[in-house]
Amino acid sequence: MNITVRPSSRIRGRVELPGDKSISHRLAMLGAIANGKTVIRGFSGSADCAGTLSCLRQLGVGVESPGPGHVVIPGRGLGGLEASEHPLDAGNSGSTLRMLSGILAGQHFSTTISGDPSLRRRPMRRIIDPLSRMGAEIRAGRDNTPPLSIRGGDLQAIDYPMPVASAQVKSAILLAGLYASGTTRVVEPLASRDHTEIALRQFGVELQGSGRELLIRGGQQPRAQAAAVPGDLSSAAFLIAATLLLPNSETVFPGVGLNPRRRAVVDVLIEMGAAIDVIDEYPLHGELAGDLRVRSSDLRGGRLSGALIPQLIDEIPILAVLAPCTQEGIHIRDAAELRVKESNRIQSIVENLRAMGVAVEEYPDGMSIPGRQSLRGGLVDSHGDHRIAMAFSIAGLVAGGPTVIGGADCVSVSFPGFYDLLAGLTQA
Ligand code: S3P
Repeated sequence: MNITVRPSSRIRGRVELPGDKSISHRLAMLGAIANGKTVIRGFSGSADCAGTLSCLRQLGVGVESPGPGHVVIPGRGLGGLEASEHPLDAGNSGSTLRMLSGILAGQHFSTTISGDPSLRRRPMRRIIDPLSRMGAEIRAGRDNTPPLSIRGGDLQAIDYPMPVASAQVKSAILLAGLYASGTTRVVEPLASRDHTEIALRQFGVELQGSGRELLIRGGQQPRAQAAAVPGDLSSAAFLIAATLLLPNSETVFPGVGLNPRRRAVVDVLIEMGAAIDVIDEYPLHGELAGDLRVRSSDLRGGRLSGALIPQLIDEIPILAVLAPCTQEGIHIRDAAELRVKESNRIQSIVENLRAMGVAVEEYPDGMSIPGRQSLRGGLVDSHGDHRIAMAFSIAGLVAGGPTVIGGADCVSVSFPGFYDLLAGLTQA
């Protein structure tokens, strides 16, 4: 489906965000292997998280959803999942496939898990290596891509320095570590989001270490929880960017997740001169949430690289869209991981910026986008990637003419209702 976005004069309003996708996946998976009934409020309505719930149903978990954002999971206990008759379909979701593989590695049965064409191109060696070392038998497609066939078993703890900074890989290892005999140690090269660590502790699991090193003792039974999910800051980022770019604009985001390892996008934008106020900040089931107020701003721009990258990896598409409208441009390095996301995001961003008349230099691990450039309307392609579709929809709001987003329906992967919400907040 194509969507035409027309230039807009301003954006204003109070935004009810979808629940955080990353946190929703984790609460659902931990609920499934907990003892007792887990009740989740504010669960993400995204297609990705619906995919996690449907995989869990196939593994014998009687997931119910009594209303929007309300999910009830009768836990089966660590060893209570059942073999699925049919292969599991993780859809577009790397989080579902990689994190669930950690749990499947601990089951005494075989499971096949795959996904859509995008997911079937994504690298899985990063989980196959550690989970195989723990004792799971894993078969994969060509070049270690899905489908994965996982025969779980009696796992042994490992001591694992991770080659890539990835919260999904870290989470798969920690979840498998619950099933292993002994204490599993995992060390990340750079700190990535820590929602799994927070959720495990909420479910009563002891974890040692902090920062980039974590230790988990096997055999600990997670205990069911009543939990609430904050709003998704990665989804908010698109509307925050629109507010900064359009004149006379102001938006408020109540209850958005402000986990210190996820909020780098906010900190970086404030550093660049963005008028973003944290009106309130409060703990929410181990996470941090708060209310943000955002107003139109002139942005300086800057350089994004090194340890910052894993903490704003999902926000790079929208930061790249802001770049031509800044004074000094935005220069991104150390972000080669972007090439193995839902699309090759470096290529998708560069191609679409050029289609809108923006000069950009591409590097293997990033890009350089000079500032003080204007965007013209045109035809852009989502490449089936939800964050590319949303980022270039925001670009369309500030372009010189209408912008057609090819394949815009993929926004439902993380943000169903994005276009209706945008239409309600913006003015022609
Ligand atoms: C996620 C971690 C990130 C991110 C993805 C969600 C998560 O991936 O890009 O959208 O929920 O753990 P990596 O951990 O593989 O970098």
